[in-house]
Amino acid sequence: MRSMSDDHTHVQEFFTARAADWDRRFPDDGPAYAAAVAGLGLREGGRVLDAGCGTGRALPWLRAAVGPSGVVVGVDLTAAMLREAARAGRDRDGALLLADAAALPLRASSLDAVFAAGLVAHLPDPAGTLREIARVVRPGGVLALFHPIGRAALAARQGRTLTPDDLRAEPNLRALLAGSGWRMTSYTDEDDRFLALATRVN
Ligand SMILES: C[S@@+](CC[C@H](N)C(=O)[O-])C[C@H]1O[C@@H](n2cnc3c(N)ncnc32)[C@H](O)[C@@H]1O
Repeated sequence: MRSMSDDHTHVQEFFTARAADWDRRFPDDGPAYAAAVAGLGLREGGRVLDAGCGTGRALPWLRAAVGPSGVVVGVDLTAAMLREAARAGRDRDGALLLADAAALPLRASSLDAVFAAGLVAHLPDPAGTLREIARVVRPGGVLALFHPIGRAALAARQGRTLTPDDLRAEPNLRALLAGSGWRMTSYTDEDDRFLALATRVN
């Protein structure tokens, strides 16, 4: 039987092998990240987590949104991705923490928003992890599940066929979020971006 730590090891090996080239592979994604971060509606002084921050591509946009008085934290399971984030100077935009998004070292209701790009497909327990993310967000706070490519285009790139049981298909994701402390408020799945926004329910 496959255990949670096997899943973590698999994720860490997968992303450790890709960390050094990660930003070079997708050099033109900046504007898409900026637009997705805008969907969080952050304000000056806000508190935001980038869950599965990787090399921290979203951190400059998150910092710009909350300003110098805000709080930006990036969490990732793969040390090599965080090392690349620091090498790129993104530790100036946010605190980088090596941690599992399913067990966040953060206080309950301490954040206004969470940004998660390319994370959900890698989670062994999506519902449990989304519940843990909900724990650290205040009621009314916002979650953005983003990918700078749509589901169909990503499947084609990976040589897969999209099936109705896909986690991020609209009805599946709506139900998953509803069962883990969130209400989905918008859903966009276009060739060049996937963005689902949800609000933390009480
Ligand atoms: C597809 S990459 C996206 C990285 C970054 N968000 C971006 O948009 O460039 C997914 C990231 O999620 C991280 N990750 C996967 N499972 C995780 C978990 N349970 N907790 C924290 N990070 C995780 C991986 O290590 C990897 O860096």
